[in-house]
Amino acid sequence: MSITYDSTCRAFALHAGNCSYVLQVSGSGHLLTCHWGASVADADLSFVAPVRMKTNALADEPTPAFGLDTALQEAPAGNGDFRLPAYRVELANGAQDLDLRYVRHDIATGKPSLRSLPATYVEDAAEADTLTIVLRDALSGLEIQQRYTAFRNFPVIARSVSVVNAGSVPVALLGVASASVDLILPPQHVLSLDGAWGRERERHRTPVRHGVTLIQSRRGESSHHHNPFLAVCDAAADEAFGEVRGLSLVYSGNHQMAVEYDAFEVVRLQAGILPEGFRWLLEPGERFDTPECVLVYSSTGWGGLSRAYHELYRTRLVRGPWRDRLRPVLINNWEGTYFDFTSERLLAMAREAKELGVELFVLDDGWFGARASDNAALGDWVVNEQKLPGGLARLAEEINRLGMTFGLWFEPEMVSPNSDLYRAHPDWCLHVPGRPRQLLRNQLVLDITRPEVRAHVMDQIISVLRSAPIGYVKWDMNRLLDAYFSPALPAARQAEVMHRYVLAMYAMHQQVLDAFPDLLLEGCSGGGARFDPGMLFYAPQIWTSDDSDAIARLEIQAGTNLVYPLSAMSAHVSVVPNHQLGRTTPLATRFAVAGTGSFGLELDPTGFSSEERAAVAAGIAEHKRLQPIFHHGDLYRLRDDEKCVAWQVVLRDRSRAVLTCVGRLAQTNQRPGPIRLAGLDPSARYAVRELFGDERSTVASGLTLMSAGLWPVPDFQWTTADFLAKRWLLERQ
Ligand code: DGJ
Repeated sequence: MSITYDSTCRAFALHAGNCSYVLQVSGSGHLLTCHWGASVADADLSFVAPVRMKTNALADEPTPAFGLDTALQEAPAGNGDFRLPAYRVELANGAQDLDLRYVRHDIATGKPSLRSLPATYVEDAAEADTLTIVLRDALSGLEIQQRYTAFRNFPVIARSVSVVNAGSVPVALLGVASASVDLILPPQHVLSLDGAWGRERERHRTPVRHGVTLIQSRRGESSHHHNPFLAVCDAAADEAFGEVRGLSLVYSGNHQMAVEYDAFEVVRLQAGILPEGFRWLLEPGERFDTPECVLVYSSTGWGGLSRAYHELYRTRLVRGPWRDRLRPVLINNWEGTYFDFTSERLLAMAREAKELGVELFVLDDGWFGARASDNAALGDWVVNEQKLPGGLARLAEEINRLGMTFGLWFEPEMVSPNSDLYRAHPDWCLHVPGRPRQLLRNQLVLDITRPEVRAHVMDQIISVLRSAPIGYVKWDMNRLLDAYFSPALPAARQAEVMHRYVLAMYAMHQQVLDAFPDLLLEGCSGGGARFDPGMLFYAPQIWTSDDSDAIARLEIQAGTNLVYPLSAMSAHVSVVPNHQLGRTTPLATRFAVAGTGSFGLELDPTGFSSEERAAVAAGIAEHKRLQPIFHHGDLYRLRDDEKCVAWQVVLRDRSRAVLTCVGRLAQTNQRPGPIRLAGLDPSARYAVRELFGDERSTVASGLTLMSAGLWPVPDFQWTTADFLAKRWLLERQ
């Protein structure tokens, strides 16, 4: 068992990989945090968790006997705790806080799945143990079930909460965090992943300051702006050193990630659905389940944190046949044609792509209804036979005949005002009756919380998918939600709309997967607005950003792969000058950057010169050779500064590795230096082969490569051109 209970001090120790999490029931029945960090011994539990009796609920001094105001709490709900509450309610009498006391606990092997919500899972019950602690508010009868799963082989604790109304009158939930933890730590920094369209998930790191720091999405999606992730680290922590603690919320809607630093230097970390604008009415006997929050502890800096999230998410969040399968090299026609295509043009692209080594042809936006621009037809999921005579079946079959899989774009959650669907059902979108409807990209959001709306859309999509051999779907979502209102719900339930929307969207994804279990789903949201763990449960890969410029992607992908595995990041080679930035980068650089993720082309290859054709074909062939390393390997971000970025990916058995270096702007008169590698077998000798250019090779031990380092040629501090890239393949001899 990775979870033990010591009844003398009423403490629980959860051991997960090299980390321990200790919590305790106080003499008064409050649930307290004692430790989340490096391993502690079970025999020392009474030392880590000395018996604590509550002396004064409002004590404002950090005495060993505690008051709620200063205690390290696991389930704060007001009532004498003045910091950020995990739980806020509105009881029948109007009271908003809870007096939560321990009732019982249960320790079981395995990990239960969550009702209607994505979550990490185990394949064998022996992989994890789950502790459930039940707390109760005697006045209302409200029961809080806090679940903690300790994964034995990962430094991961997965937390979630169910709230049960065991009372006799309705209760409104105003805020339910998925996880809240109080810690005493040395000075910390907080890191979040924030951005906007075209520059998603930039890393922002600042010292933790007194007061509350909130990272929130209010856009109805996890958003371009703030990813549902937050971490704190030692002030000096870097890629390889220092303690880092991360919270990643498995959710795709409005979220709140918080860190509070109080007067007694306690750090409270919290994650959950955004409480603002949320009110969930719980009738007697009903249960509300929160999304899961995945907590990772690393004592080896950001690199250790990333590798733990990557392995967990790659193997125990992503599901289905595509989890372990190498992803097909694809071509997507979007940047190649936008809306301007015919069957002939698409087939010409497909024929050329096949010659280059492409395995999957993806037809993006514009194949349905009267969709000649982004001004029409969302919701009319019927093939436009004028553009595609013979329908999708003919096109898909011809592409299959070429030896490629056919894939298709949808945007199922949306409706264009200029569509047959909207003309027939103008009330089927989210809107506040009597108020003008606000368009974004000329479209409105369907009210998928209504079963009849969902059924209509799903019937259309499933019949399109049945009409032709389609092996892949790109599920896009190109606008945020502004009107949080469903005319089908009573006033008292309007603040449930945002969460109901997310649940409905998950149910739609599951319905498609149930009908087509072998389908490869790719998530997308106007670029990477819904790149989150919730979507990864359904879609093993997600379009990372609409910005396909290789240099911009360095930061976008580094922020993304702080949490998400490389195989999850869709990344494509596009033309130069780049459509988003106008920048010109070498082809090798575009391959080096896109090749670290789930790879494809986003261009029209029919105009390639013979040199371009040869270079792209060679790049694709090389990608296929390296792909197993990128898909299954461990990532080390070795360097990221104004001169260059160096990423190394090593297979888990340390037999093969790829080092990728990308130079930024060339600089004159800089001192060259080596790049120290990581994660190799020190006792093995590796053949080190340069992949672009003259393919020079050398042999050195893992020990030397990690201690003295590799002197890259060309040296990125002494290059004669901007944005050069180099790759080395290391193979154990
Ligand atoms: C936004 C996506 O990010 C693009 O890749 C493309 O699919 C367009 N939508 C199509 O409208």
